[in-house]
Amino acid sequence: SAAETGEWVASYVRQRINSFKPTEELPFVLGLPTGSSPLSTYKYLVQFHKEGTLSFENVVTFNMDEYVGLPEDHPESYHTFMWTNLFQHIDIKRENVHILNGNADDLEEECREYERKIASFGGIELFLGGIGPDGHIAFNEPGSSLVSRTRVKTLAYDTIVANSRFFGGDMELVPKMALTVGVGTVMDAREVLIIITGHSKAYALYKVIEEGVNHMWTVSAIQTHGKAVIVCDEDATLEL
Ligand code: GLP
Repeated sequence: SAAETGEWVASYVRQRINSFKPTEELPFVLGLPTGSSPLSTYKYLVQFHKEGTLSFENVVTFNMDEYVGLPEDHPESYHTFMWTNLFQHIDIKRENVHILNGNADDLEEECREYERKIASFGGIELFLGGIGPDGHIAFNEPGSSLVSRTRVKTLAYDTIVANSRFFGGDMELVPKMALTVGVGTVMDAREVLIIITGHSKAYALYKVIEEGVNHMWTVSAIQTHGKAVIVCDEDATLEL
């Protein structure tokens, strides 16, 4: 089930963080997604923190993406999502949280700076991700280059339709652009873990693991990654 998926992923993240030997210069660097897929993982991470078996004191995070032009405190911004569902409940230091600023004056510079910041921490140790029903990762819509880096991206029609559920079903209210890490940025992580749940993702899971690497299903790039895993529920496997 989706809940069991979250428990498994959170236990795995706990084990990776707890067995990592952080130094001042090199903390544990965790890449994080938003969306419904990681929700149960975040719930368990919070629970583990409250139980005292997991601390984020030596963890630095980088989020995958953020809408362009949505105020940071908007209920549907990814900033709000992350603070509400994870950060405010754990002991992470505010300065260790990195989320792209979709309201920066110079969006392209914001993206370049994000890449520089990731590099300054020695790269990402573990990147968690979800996928869209069209197999996109972060906001790397179908057709994105598989070596893309953090950049401004125009959202695909399907993504705007899918995400309108968070904006009262009104597609007009969904931002049309976003800042997103690239497929290459995700692939540079030393380990990638993708959470896929629900029958609406079943066809995507089939395309992504049983067909070839394809820039129209951008998460299929993980087929070429040395250490990648997909964690899914039973419903997501229906087309395999
Ligand atoms: C958005 C996000 C992706 C996320 C996808 C799926 O497009 N940018 O990072 O994986 O939604 O979201 P959900 O998990 O809610 O299906």
